[in-house]
Amino acid sequence: MKILICYFSGTGNTKRVIDKYVEVFKDKGCEVDTFRVENQNFNYNLNDYDKIGLAYPIHAFNAPAIIFSFIKKFPKLESEKPLFIIKTSGEPLKLNNISSIKPMSILKKKNFKLTNEYHYCMPYNIIFRHTDSMAYKMWETAKQLIPIDAQEILDGKEVKLKKFPFGRPLAFVFRIEHWGGRFNGKRYKVKDNCAHCNACVKICPTHNITVENGEFHFGKNCIMCMRCAFLCKENAIKIGLFEKWKVNGPYTFQKPEKEEEDNHKKYCKKSYQKYFKRAEEKIANAKKLTVEENSVKEFDEDLGKSAQN
Ligand SMILES: Cc1cc2nc3c(=O)[nH]c(=O)nc-3n(C[C@H](O)[C@H](O)[C@H](O)COP(=O)(O)O)c2cc1C
Repeated sequence: MKILICYFSGTGNTKRVIDKYVEVFKDKGCEVDTFRVENQNFNYNLNDYDKIGLAYPIHAFNAPAIIFSFIKKFPKLESEKPLFIIKTSGEPLKLNNISSIKPMSILKKKNFKLTNEYHYCMPYNIIFRHTDSMAYKMWETAKQLIPIDAQEILDGKEVKLKKFPFGRPLAFVFRIEHWGGRFNGKRYKVKDNCAHCNACVKICPTHNITVENGEFHFGKNCIMCMRCAFLCKENAIKIGLFEKWKVNGPYTFQKPEKEEEDNHKKYCKKSYQKYFKRAEEKIANAKKLTVEENSVKEFDEDLGKSAQN
């Protein structure tokens, strides 16, 4: 099976998930290509693939602006093409499910058929920093879910996320973030502790940061992906109106030696509990099925052997 996954990842969470998908698909004998949406030239013929994947981090209950510009350029396909969507987001609220409504209405007109949709909780890159143990737990959970979800995609088992009441108008309202990002992005500032490594200039997916005579200039194409501020080694970038929500420094995704104080333990507590409980159930169920399948296989092999004897 030939699969193409197009993805955007601001600060690495979605990329981490997609890398795992690629590993799993390849292990299962699929041919997989990936396209990072910020790369300029999209030279793939979508008709050549059996399945297309689209992956993104959720931004204000929507897909990021860069995903919209990308899919709008897709051609109309000759025949209906199965599409799976993969999303990552910091909290597991059901409201996040609305993020695919608009992208799907664009893609449906181009002959894509949504067959599978998955959402993985990954640590926040804005609002607040998740604890290392939470980041570890999220990634360990995703790592176990991905092989199960990937198999569902390959088996053609349709899986969709639950609809949210008034999802379409709500998503429309929250898409103010696309405009707000541009507005706020122009208000980014660089602090005096900047080491002038210019990493931010090089990594910005929209080439929105320029530097002239040591002065940084933030243009009007910010998509609020947080990459510049999140990865700045000196924590020297101020993110305008959202400075209080800034998260700086990549997560290690390692189990910490000591349990840290969690200042946000009450935040969306029930939602996280539900997310992890459902994930545990799905993982346990898949393990049970594998044990059962293996026992049936062993039984069949034994039967075959005794028939030969
Ligand atoms: C501008 C912005 C808006 C976000 N909005 C949401 C949101 O609505 N819901 C949510 O759960 N997480 C939200 N997040 C958190 C990210 O979706 C989450 O951290 C994601 O895993 C980041 O993925 P990435 O590292 O691939 O960019 C938002 C992040 C940013 C930068």
